[in-house]
Amino acid sequence: MDAIRIQGGVPLAGDITIGGAKNAALPLMAACLLSDQPLTLVNMPELADIATMGNLLRQHGVTIGQAAFGAGRASPDAGATGRTMTLSADTITSVTAPYDLVRRMRASVLVLGPLLARMGEAKVSLPGGCAIGTRPVDLHLKALEALGAKIEVKEGYIHATAAGGLKGAKVTFPKVTVGGTENLLMAAILASGETILENAAREPEIGNLAECLNAMGADITGIGSGTLTIRGVKTLRAARVAVIPDRIETGTYAIAAAITRGRIKLLGTNYELLDSVFAAMRQAGVTIESQDDGIVVSAEKELVGVDVATEPFPGFPTDMQAQWMALMATANGAAMITETIFENRFMHVPELTRFGADVNVHGASAIVRGRGGKLSGAPVMATDLRASSSLILAGLAASGETLVNRVYHLDRGYERLEEKLGACGARIERISGA
Ligand code: EPZ
Repeated sequence: MDAIRIQGGVPLAGDITIGGAKNAALPLMAACLLSDQPLTLVNMPELADIATMGNLLRQHGVTIGQAAFGAGRASPDAGATGRTMTLSADTITSVTAPYDLVRRMRASVLVLGPLLARMGEAKVSLPGGCAIGTRPVDLHLKALEALGAKIEVKEGYIHATAAGGLKGAKVTFPKVTVGGTENLLMAAILASGETILENAAREPEIGNLAECLNAMGADITGIGSGTLTIRGVKTLRAARVAVIPDRIETGTYAIAAAITRGRIKLLGTNYELLDSVFAAMRQAGVTIESQDDGIVVSAEKELVGVDVATEPFPGFPTDMQAQWMALMATANGAAMITETIFENRFMHVPELTRFGADVNVHGASAIVRGRGGKLSGAPVMATDLRASSSLILAGLAASGETLVNRVYHLDRGYERLEEKLGACGARIERISGA
C-alpha cells in the first residue's frame, strides 16, 4: 500500500490546474447506458473511481475508447485538458451490477436508473455502509417505485423490474439526495409522460448531468432549481459533453494555499462552484481574487476561526468539511464545525489531533481551538477520501515530517496530487508499497 511523505512548513506558490469533477463524471458515465448511441465525455479526470465505473460499464456490455489530452497537448476541444472518453452502449449484455464492483464504489448504484429505464430490469448489489455513514439507498428505491418499478431486495441485491416501462409521476424527496436525484433523472427521461422531482438536489454535478441528458435528446427543465420537470422521450441521440471542473479539488487546493500561508492560482475552474467555501475563507482572513484566467488564493496574515455547518448545495459542502477542520486548526481562536449530511464524518479528528490539533467532538459538531499555525508532523492513517486530503493539508502546514498511510483513498478522487502540490514547492513524495 502506498504512503505519502511530506516535509511540511513550506508556503506554497504557483499554479494548479483543476481537473474534471469525479462526482460529475461518474453519473455522466452511467448515462451512456440509456442509449444505443455513443456518448463522448470531455475533460474526464484520471482517477481510480473512474476506472472502477469503466470496469462496471464494460461488464454491462459498454465499449470505452479513451484519448489523453494533457496540458500542452493538442486537443480537439479548445482549452480542454484531461481525457476524452467515448462510451458506446449499443448492446447491453448484462443487467446485473455485481457485489464485487459495487462494494468498491457506492456510485455504482447509479447504473440502476438507466438500466431499468432502458432494459425494464436491473439487478444491482446493495452498496452497504461505508466509513462516513450507513448511506442507505431507500430514497432511490421509493422514487423508482413511484415511477411504477417493482423492487425486491433479496440476497444482497436490488432487483428492479418495469415490464411495461416506467411511467411519469410526481416525486417529492423527503431529504435532499444527490445520487437519488441522479438515478431518478436518468430513469425518468425514458418514462412515458411527465415526471416532476421536488426537493431535488441542486449540486452543480446534477446540472451537468441534466444538460448532458438534454444534449442526448431528453426534455428536462428547471435545471439548477429544486424542482426538475422531465418529459419522457422515446429515443436518444449521440452527444458530446464536457465534465465541469471539480469544485472539491478546487477547494482543497485553495485551502493548501491558505494553510501554508502561500499563494496559488487555480486554473480551469469556476468561482461560482464554491461560493460558500470562498465566503468562509474570506471571513477567516484569506484573500481570494477571481481573475479572467483563474482564482488566486493567498494568505499572508494570521487567520481567525470561522464556524461552518455542512448543507446541500449551495451550502457549505460536506466534502470540504475535513479540509476546513485542518485549516481551522491553524487559525487563531475557536471554530465550530457542524456536519449535517453524514452521521459519521469525523473520522479525521483523531488523526488531526496527532498533529497537535485541539478538536473536541460533541454529537454532530466539532469544536476546533486553533493554535495559530503550530502543528507538528506525524505518521497518520487515511480513513476515507476527504479525510485523506485533510491529513495531506495538515502535513503541508506542519513542521517536520508527516507520513500519510493508506493513500489509495486519495487516488479515488485526486489526480496527480503530489505532482500538482510539488510544482508549487511542496516537499511531497509517494512511497510505493509502504
Ligand atoms: C454524493 O453522495 C457524493 N458522491 C458524495 O461525495 C457527497 O458527499 C454527497 O453526495 C453529499 O454531497 C457522488 O456524487 C458520487 P446523498 P451520495 O444521496 O449521492 C442520505 C466524495 O467524497 N440518504 O446526497 O451518496 C445519506 O445517507 C463523496 O466525493 C438516505 O438516507 O449522497 C446522506 O446522509 C463522499 N437515503 C444524505 O442522504 C437515500 O436513499 C445525502 O446523501 C440516499 C441518501
